[in-house]
Amino acid sequence: MSDGPDTHDADGVTLQWVERADQLRAAQALRVRVFCEEQGVPREVELDAGDAIARHAIAVAPDGQVVGTMRLLVRDHVVKVGRVAIDREWRGRGIASRLLDRAMEYAQRQRVDALRLAAQTAAQRLYLKAGFRPVGEPFDEAGIEHVWMVREVVPRKPARRRPPT
Ligand SMILES: CC(C)(COP(=O)(O)OP(=O)(O)OC[C@H]1O[C@@H](n2cnc3c(N)ncnc32)[C@H](O)[C@@H]1OP(=O)(O)O)[C@@H](O)C(=O)NCCC(=O)NCCS
Repeated sequence: MSDGPDTHDADGVTLQWVERADQLRAAQALRVRVFCEEQGVPREVELDAGDAIARHAIAVAPDGQVVGTMRLLVRDHVVKVGRVAIDREWRGRGIASRLLDRAMEYAQRQRVDALRLAAQTAAQRLYLKAGFRPVGEPFDEAGIEHVWMVREVVPRKPARRRPPT
């Protein structure tokens, strides 16, 4: 990732910021598989205008396959996290949690006050573990029950200056 180092886990999965059109296409193809084909979200709802202005991250398997994705939109001093999707074969290995760590690092660099997301209530535990808390009542979006969740951003400590040698 250009904003911070690439990291690998035990599976050799690398997190990267999307810089090229082919990476974005792969992320969108994964979202279509997960949200449209698995969950029944209409394609035109899934691939909305936010894609053109978002910062996208991908998780890449050792063979180059994109197995995870997330997008971040900055607005009104808040980073909105969305479209968190992991390939079915790669779930339960902590990839979404690693992506959420990167969302926090991004939010700290953007100096925003909070991270916000509309969580599918079925996936709430993922976000609770990542430090988000639910706010307000559940609501329907694209036929799926969601709840807003927020996490305050703790500013990063400034790097200590090394004394002159
Ligand atoms: C939800 C999803 C993104 C989680 O990705 P993942 O890489 O498997 O998540 P992680 O391995 O980082 O899981 C972290 C924690 O969240 C929990 N969790 C993850 N997905 C969950 C789910 N669907 N339901 C309940 N708990 C879940 C896990 O139990 C895990 O905790 P544990 O390690 O103590 O067991 C993935 O299952 C997915 O793509 N689902 C379909 C799309 C979707 O629903 N996206 C969420 C939109 S809000």
